[in-house]
Amino acid sequence: MKVTVVGAGAVGATCADNIARAALAQELVILDIKEGLAEGKAQDMMQTAALLGFDTKISGSTNDYSKTANSDVVVITSGIPRKPGMTREDLIGTNAGIVKGVAENILKYSPNAIIIVISNPMDTMTYLALKSTGLPKHRIIGMGGTLDSARFKYQLSQHLDCSPADLNAVVVGGHGDTTMIPLIRHATWNSAPVTNFLTKEQQDKIVADTMVGGATLTKLIGTSAWYAPGAAGAALVKSILRDEKKLFTCCVSLEGEYGQSDICLGVPVVIGKNGWEKILDFKLNETEQAAFNHSADAVRNMNEVLKTL
Ligand code: 2OP
Repeated sequence: MKVTVVGAGAVGATCADNIARAALAQELVILDIKEGLAEGKAQDMMQTAALLGFDTKISGSTNDYSKTANSDVVVITSGIPRKPGMTREDLIGTNAGIVKGVAENILKYSPNAIIIVISNPMDTMTYLALKSTGLPKHRIIGMGGTLDSARFKYQLSQHLDCSPADLNAVVVGGHGDTTMIPLIRHATWNSAPVTNFLTKEQQDKIVADTMVGGATLTKLIGTSAWYAPGAAGAALVKSILRDEKKLFTCCVSLEGEYGQSDICLGVPVVIGKNGWEKILDFKLNETEQAAFNHSADAVRNMNEVLKTL
């Protein structure tokens, strides 16, 4: 199996590192436009192989897409990250052109690849990748909800004093500070509803802190986060390459599911060798569905901006 990660910045490099450590692929290519950056990071990672015991062959490429040929999965992390005070949506003007160009170049050499989009604003970049490539919808996956759900589990684990791995919790909707919807009513601590163990105030705080999870880190670090975003991308790659059929929240093309169409938005999906394989209906109640519709409106407005670029 062969994987390409486009973008050798912090998120791309972390994603590649996770893919290498888990020995998911025989070949891993990291591509970046900055001269030497991908080659350098690839070499640095290769030098961990003797220490960590993986045998993936990692190579770097400065914008030469021929090196990415015949990739099974491609992760797109290209574009600028946000700085403190910026929303993910502020990045659209710069990142739309970059993501469109990357997706086109990738498909020239890997026409059968499954594409995972991490670049922000992620919902709109996923929609753009879908529309500009014309690929079957199952092969375009936006990563956002996978990350937001991991952050939701982190927040829950802090209040419950439990292992995040024992929690089932999903965030649906957009990957924006005001558009994501942590579904606390559906969250469980091994099968018991987490709401059994949390006061209303705690629940509200967990939801609010999850929604600004990325912004909180951007403020602390001075740029966008990378460990969890990179790990989330790699978890999706693993589920595809090993056909795990794990359930993740991903941004996918909706055609009537959750009451929405002509939009890519975060919903629970099964991820396997064909990309996203099916959407699960979590049967939202009225309040949750209203929040989902509100989120869809905001993302749709953002998608409209694409027409003006
Ligand atoms: C984040 O939320 C990179 O959008 C990503 O940290």
